[in-house]
Amino acid sequence: MTTVAPLRNLISIEDLDADQVELILDTAEQLREIAERPIKKVPTLRGRTVCNLFLEDSTRTRLSFDIAAKRLSADVMNFSAKGSSVSKGESFKDTALTLKAMGLDAVVVRSHSSGAPLQLSRYLDVPVLNAGDGWHQHPTQALLDIFTMRRHLGRLAGLKVAIVGDVLHSRVARSEVQALKLMGAEVTLVAPPTLLPPAVETWGVEVAAGPDELLPELDVLYVLRVQRERMHRGFFPSSREYARFWGIDGPRMDMLKPEAIVMHPGPMNRGVEITGDVADSDRSVIVEQVTNGIAIRMACLYLLLGGHEQRDTD
Ligand code: NCD
Repeated sequence: MTTVAPLRNLISIEDLDADQVELILDTAEQLREIAERPIKKVPTLRGRTVCNLFLEDSTRTRLSFDIAAKRLSADVMNFSAKGSSVSKGESFKDTALTLKAMGLDAVVVRSHSSGAPLQLSRYLDVPVLNAGDGWHQHPTQALLDIFTMRRHLGRLAGLKVAIVGDVLHSRVARSEVQALKLMGAEVTLVAPPTLLPPAVETWGVEVAAGPDELLPELDVLYVLRVQRERMHRGFFPSSREYARFWGIDGPRMDMLKPEAIVMHPGPMNRGVEITGDVADSDRSVIVEQVTNGIAIRMACLYLLLGGHEQRDTD
């Protein structure tokens, strides 16, 4: 019997082992049921204060961290670059020291800069949760995605997953590949050569130029957004060309096995990487990913802040 090592921060999937990931998924499974109650609140984190520090735009992640903390009865401070002294040029260190002086219990941070959450964790003595940093990591997205896969397909080990699209700019892809490999899934990246990261061979996954040959084998087709805000040159000729070669449309979806699922982290460029009929089809679990995101973020907050309980594993 070994005990699961307690979580101190959640900065990268690389910091987790398989037992810790399973503990997060199992905790989320228990907490998910709170969303189905008429009163969607438990007192677990009453008297604790969570700060959401969002220095880059976000809809789903920001709202779901907010709801997650509130469902656990924590007090929540929402802080964004716009409207704060960050827009007056205050340094990251001074912002961090200000947060420290407020006596917070946890900080959730999203930033354009890779490494910002790690840096913040060095200034603070409370848990830091990475809500997406640059091109680096987005651990709670990967956790909610594998949670969604496990709920639908009953397992993670041995699943065949293709991640299609703009891998180069995607922190989701980086976290997703690490989480899937850790849990024993088989991953293939599918992207135009210009949208693959330079050292992709070090990721330890298969790489394919197009999706068509893979589709009949897959359990999960994970579609990434074309991240135009991070593109400062032409990575492909046109959106129409991208959609034709790498976009997921009805005919491509029909090549999947009947039980295979289609996922996307959102926000979607409908008509580019995914067509509306695929996004809205009964194969798509995209809306459910958002619901599961709340349960995963509740589990992470609970384990980092409240749950000093440990779990025994065989
Ligand atoms: C992702 C992100 O911000 O990295 N979105 C999200 O958190 N739901 C993916 C993306 O923006 O494409």
